Amino acid sequence: MSERVIPLADHRYAAALPRVPAAAVPPTGLLGDRLGRPLRDLRISVTDRCNFRCSYCMPKEVFDKAYTFLPQSSLLSFEEITRTARLFVAHGVQKLRLTGGEPLLRKHLEVLIGMLSELRTPDGQPLDLTLTTNGSVLAKKAQALKDAGLQRVTVSLDALDDAIFRRMNDVDFPVAEVLEGIAEAQRVGLGPIKVNMVVKRGTNDDQIVAMARHFKGTPVVLRFIEYMDVGATNGWRMDEVLPSADVVARIHAQFPLEAIEANVTGETAERWRYRDGSGEIGVISSVTQAFCHDCNRARLSTEGKLFLCLFATNGHDLRALLRGGYTDEQIAGAIGLIWQGREDRYSELRGAAGAEVGLGDGQRRVEMHYIGG
Ligand code: GTP
Ligand code: 5AD
Ligand code: SF4
Ligand code: SF4
Repeated sequence: MSERVIPLADHRYAAALPRVPAAAVPPTGLLGDRLGRPLRDLRISVTDRCNFRCSYCMPKEVFDKAYTFLPQSSLLSFEEITRTARLFVAHGVQKLRLTGGEPLLRKHLEVLIGMLSELRTPDGQPLDLTLTTNGSVLAKKAQALKDAGLQRVTVSLDALDDAIFRRMNDVDFPVAEVLEGIAEAQRVGLGPIKVNMVVKRGTNDDQIVAMARHFKGTPVVLRFIEYMDVGATNGWRMDEVLPSADVVARIHAQFPLEAIEANVTGETAERWRYRDGSGEIGVISSVTQAFCHDCNRARLSTEGKLFLCLFATNGHDLRALLRGGYTDEQIAGAIGLIWQGREDRYSELRGAAGAEVGLGDGQRRVEMHYIGG
């Protein structure tokens, strides 16, 4: 075992690291954090750019022409992403989700998908390989994504009404093209498809029942997401959050629902099915019913920082290790060590405090477009 130390510049445990051997926590698949949570899900952001300007994520006033996105040289290469993913898989990751910004804007993404689709869990199983997209170029790319080895997609769609949708994406993008993308993804076999709708009270909550009606009786699983106080630019206010309980009540009044069991532990969504057997919906309630207790998700930013929570202020610089001549064993050891020290549970703390949790001086929460959803 090497005694070489790992220079994690902005690591929270930086003070402890120089005394810790690099391969301190080798992959066993049994890794747990301080709250006993395993590592199962790696969400990889492949670009911080997006062609939409949803106000809850990339408000136009902030993300304007003058905004500087990451330069090409700071992005992880496909080889670096695949190498990192392989090390996470050795630690127990079973699901890889590509995110952005808008992941389909990353050039040659299907090459990366091809590389990731060859990874196997330690017992030889393929991974759940998926992607979250705004759907704007999905109709064009669905077949190539499927051919490269992508298994399924999740599409963000906040309204069926064209005027409301154009206003929410704030670039005047028509809803019909996203619906075409969903249809094409379905046609080429990228299912089960999920559609995620962020609900903002007073903005698109009148679309809830229309969206439910549209996807009822299709194989698409529609999920309603509570508007979250993620990042630092969206001007989040509690009075714009519509609790999931209200979403369920509104749909139930039209189309009776009943609760069903989670598919897997640590799932973000609570599931409900239509009593008439015409499919299911989900609600993701990170504001009113936090699900941190079994959160098994790690996030890798476009420039190779490992974030332990969607609401984190700092990432751990894995790129420095990838480009610093370290061995797989050493980097896997560092990942294990970082995960073992994890105690993040932001949404639960905010829920307990009844308000946003304050930050220290000079600290800023990571933005959603940079870390993905
Ligand atoms: P499936 O495997 O398809 O169930 O995906 P998923 O629900 O794990 O991922 P998806 O990207 O579809 O998540 C849906 C939304 O839930 C995201 O866009 C976020 O808004 C929110 N979300 C996902 N993970 C977390 C999390 O760990 N914490 C919080 N607070 N919200 C999350
Ligand atoms: N609250 C809830 N969900 C959000 N997303 C982006 N910003 C927010 C927010 N503030 C969702 C998008 C998409 C995914 C990438 O994250 O709708 O489904
Ligand atoms: Fe782009 Fe998705 Fe953010 Fe909207 S929510 S601006 S589509 S990354
Ligand atoms: Fe996981 Fe953080 Fe979300 Fe809680 S708030 S579920 S710890 S990412």
